[in-house]
Amino acid sequence: MNLVRAIYPGTFDPLTNGHLDLIERGSKIFDELIVGILRNTEKDPLFNLAERLEMSEQLIRRFDNVRVEAFEGLLVDFAMQKKAGAILRGIRAISDYEYELQMAWMNRKLHPQVETVFMMPAEAYSYLSSRLIKEIFRLGGSVRGLVPELVEQRLGEKFAGSTTSSSVNLKK
Ligand code: PNS
Repeated sequence: MNLVRAIYPGTFDPLTNGHLDLIERGSKIFDELIVGILRNTEKDPLFNLAERLEMSEQLIRRFDNVRVEAFEGLLVDFAMQKKAGAILRGIRAISDYEYELQMAWMNRKLHPQVETVFMMPAEAYSYLSSRLIKEIFRLGGSVRGLVPELVEQRLGEKFAGSTTSSSVNLKK
């Protein structure tokens, strides 16, 4: 039987427990999973690519069949280059579906050989997003249990010395 290699692509700025949950689920159904971190993102990431790669590498170390790689350009080209047969994407709520469906169809149009597979994270993470994590942390709210400790630590370092860091320190 053929091995199935999948790409789990994203910005991962930063990686959350929701992402990790999906990685764990993906690692169980695919033979190999590559976490693909987008290099050139229009989103002006808080963490640069090297930081996102380093954090993610540490966090996926416990999975034997998962590795992290950066990519740029089209996702489907990256998938073809890696000989991946599937793209894994998480769907948290019905609101994700329209955008994800559009991407999946477009990716299918570009490369029909690559199949998109949607999975749901645990319900506890269904409201979680990297954008909200950054906003909550910046404004002094607790993100405990929503991101790995390493990420919480790195967020602290990022915001230390910023004008909002006093409120960040208050919560500790
Ligand atoms: O974590 P995100 O920001 O939701 O991930 C979005 C991502 C990286 C999967 C998407 O932006 C992407 O695939 N970008 C690469 C460029 C590309 O292939 N664009 C066409 C998508 S149909």
